[in-house]
Amino acid sequence: MKKKFFLGANWKMNATPAAALVAGSPYHATDPTVVVFPMVTEIEKCKKAGLTVGAQCGHAKASGAFTGDIPMQTLKDLGCTYVLCGHSERRQYHGETDDSVAEQVIAASTLGLIPILCIGEKADERAAGKTHDVLKRQLSCLLSHSQFSIINSQFLIAYEPVWAISGGDPNKPAATTEDAESAHRFIRSLLPKELQSTPILYGGSMKASNAKELLAQPNIDGGLIGGASLKPEDFGTIVEAAA
Ligand code: PGA
Repeated sequence: MKKKFFLGANWKMNATPAAALVAGSPYHATDPTVVVFPMVTEIEKCKKAGLTVGAQCGHAKASGAFTGDIPMQTLKDLGCTYVLCGHSERRQYHGETDDSVAEQVIAASTLGLIPILCIGEKADERAAGKTHDVLKRQLSCLLSHSQFSIINSQFLIAYEPVWAISGGDPNKPAATTEDAESAHRFIRSLLPKELQSTPILYGGSMKASNAKELLAQPNIDGGLIGGASLKPEDFGTIVEAAA
């Protein structure tokens, strides 16, 4: 059976590309499943343009003294279907921890928002040979959560090695296909039997030139794409590779 890939366009703190709002754009593709992650202020505009939309982050609590945060329910009310949980930039710049990220995943699932758990090792952790330890630690917080049983097939994981994230540099190399596939295989080995078919996306400098090879790996089920997703032509090539 042909695999249906999932591509997330993570636009981070950048304006929505105008071409994405035009009907029939590659961002509107349904096979592969394409989901855009705009700035929160542009969610409504993207919804109106007929795009499937996700949020870049959401708070686990329903309300309270959390200046600047947005609860999962509000994201859902705005029309989001998906939410990224624990992107490395949220962990790095906003102090999100394995515990708080696990709470986000549970909160999203409880409300019927589809969480995408982002995990991945930093450069120094990789250099120290700790990639597997880090992935295991980041996942185990969720796997051991008292409400873990709420997680069902509506759940995705994004493996994003922090050292491969482009940060806007289009020449940054991605992980090699061998390294990416090996990390994905390891992540899958940590999942319980009933979640073996969880889509595991690769993120970190996926672009027009390497998408096809990465997506050909048996344990890579799609991509979470930052820099290249802001360039409609490049993103179109990735969508074609996935189709
Ligand atoms: P990148 O970003 O494709 O620009 O490396 C991926 C991400 O951070 O989700």
